[in-house]
Amino acid sequence: MVIRLPKGTDVIGPPQSSGWRQALALWESLSASYGYELVITPIFEFTELFERGVGETNEVVTKQMYTFLDRRGRSLSLRPEGTAGVMRAYLHQGGTGLWKVAYSGPMFRYEQPQGGRRRQFWQIGVECIGSASEAADVEVIALADAFLAKVGVETELLINSLGDARCRGVYLADLKEVLGRSRDDLCGSHVDLVELNPLRILDCSTCRPDPEVLPDISSYWCPACRDNFGRVRDGLDRLGVGYRRSARLVRGLDYYSRTTFEFVSTTLETTQSTVLGGGRYDGLAESLGGKPASGVGFAAGIDRILMAASPAPGSPLDVFLVAEKPVTPTDLMEWAAPLREAGLRVGFDLDSRSVKAQFRAATRSGARYVGVVNGTRMEMREGYDRAPLFKEGLEHWARKAAIKEGKS
Ligand code: HAM
Repeated sequence: MVIRLPKGTDVIGPPQSSGWRQALALWESLSASYGYELVITPIFEFTELFERGVGETNEVVTKQMYTFLDRRGRSLSLRPEGTAGVMRAYLHQGGTGLWKVAYSGPMFRYEQPQGGRRRQFWQIGVECIGSASEAADVEVIALADAFLAKVGVETELLINSLGDARCRGVYLADLKEVLGRSRDDLCGSHVDLVELNPLRILDCSTCRPDPEVLPDISSYWCPACRDNFGRVRDGLDRLGVGYRRSARLVRGLDYYSRTTFEFVSTTLETTQSTVLGGGRYDGLAESLGGKPASGVGFAAGIDRILMAASPAPGSPLDVFLVAEKPVTPTDLMEWAAPLREAGLRVGFDLDSRSVKAQFRAATRSGARYVGVVNGTRMEMREGYDRAPLFKEGLEHWARKAAIKEGKS
């Protein structure tokens, strides 16, 4: 029997992987166009990074990390998220100035797997570190909005502000009091969090405290936090990014302050409909032992985004070459070279099968065009159901790849 996959992990191969490739390529170019440079951080880190960064009482840390001892007895964890590692990298490289970085890679959380919730999943994200300006919040939200639109996911943007450490402190004291009176409405695993980490209860889908009695953080914002949130909203209005304020949007990780946001799919019919989440984390640098540094960013799960994306990404090939005898697959490689150089994705049969079999393979491949290579010429063939497209396409490539009819 072939060895099974660990629960909650997936193999992303053809044809599904073509959608991944497109989404990741789009991410790379779009994040670069907003001025975010690539950052690559380790996949495993000292456990302490996440305890101090994400929060010691946070479930992602207490229940969901893959933690192990290395050969010298040091506690390491597979990263459950990217922000703490990126902030640590910022602090290591001096901890000053503006650092705008983008990342893409696997994250690990020991969760109950279901559609859109995996134990190994792939996040893309950005962190804009070193600016306390609300313009940074607006920029990262606008980038998130542009990415989701380009990838074809319909979403609603929810935003909130958690205030700063001072105004949130007063809010948390009142929240604890209200939740303390509502213990019967909380799920078994969260009753203990009332004192330790009450925001996590707001984030839980099974705790049902009466929304009427819950305090709204907006009544606790100090003037500076209120103005800050107003300016974030003004910025989004000016850019035409639609949103709704959600008083219960507190996010699942403990490092947030002021702006928080989530993009929720309007088409995914699952509980895992949040495709992207982020916010500001002005206290994170200090939790990690560094000098104060402001930061804001987001991450999105590609697995979930592609579940929600429409239309489904197209064929991985632009053109399929069909060889007529005596043309060999090696000849086709020569024919393919200028087309590939011109940026087209070209495929063909490697097994010298019959023309009929090659046409079947061309159809199966979903390539937009078919090129029949006949001796020294590449020709259009009557009878292929995409022939008109092929002729138009051939002329286009011939110009683009600077090849005339016949081999040059
Ligand atoms: P997060 O909300 O924990 O935030 O995750 C962000 C996104 O990652 C989610 O909206 C979801 O699309 C995806 N995701 C999370 N867990 C899973 C899972 N088990 N399976 C599949 N997809 C998942 C963060 O991770 C923060 N670091 C985001 C951030 C960056 N905040 C500021 N900067």
